[in-house]
Amino acid sequence: MAKAIIIYETRSGNTEMMAKAIETGLKESGVEVGLKKGARANADDLKDVDAIVLGSPTYVRSLIAAMKTLLFEMDKVDLKGKVGAAFGSYGWSGESIAILTETMKNLAGMNVIEPGLRINRRPTEKGLEECREFGKKIAERIK
Ligand SMILES: Cc1cc2nc3c(=O)[nH]c(=O)nc-3n(C[C@H](O)[C@H](O)[C@H](O)COP(=O)(O)O)c2cc1C
Repeated sequence: MAKAIIIYETRSGNTEMMAKAIETGLKESGVEVGLKKGARANADDLKDVDAIVLGSPTYVRSLIAAMKTLLFEMDKVDLKGKVGAAFGSYGWSGESIAILTETMKNLAGMNVIEPGLRINRRPTEKGLEECREFGKKIAERIK
């Protein structure tokens, strides 16, 4: 069975709603999924999975702190060729999705799905459906 891990952080819950809907999409496609907050994740979580899905809201044009720390954990493991995907909620500029995408590609040499998924503020039902579809797209890339 294909395996994925979703690692994300959130301050006011919006990116967490996205994470859970992406998890649903992956599970509906038959992928075994782990869901973890960035502050509790480390390099070991990245080892035995086919896909790594990273989520961060944008705060002051950057990643939320715990996700920045997680990128240094990524540097400890060989992730070349693994499937990657980035997502996050944003207010007006949404840089975090490009930062996560760029780092997975350039630092880790991962096979990253582009574009990542950005949702403005709190996801609506339509936004959550987009997240589930994104989960399915990630599942297809693994297979
Ligand atoms: C202090 C502060 C700074 C922010 N800076 C940005 C920013 O630079 N760019 C942006 O797109 N949104 C910015 N936002 C908006 C958040 O990204 C937005 O509220 C998002 O939905 C939060 O997601 P979360 O609920 O997962 O924490 C900022 C919000 C706060 C409170």
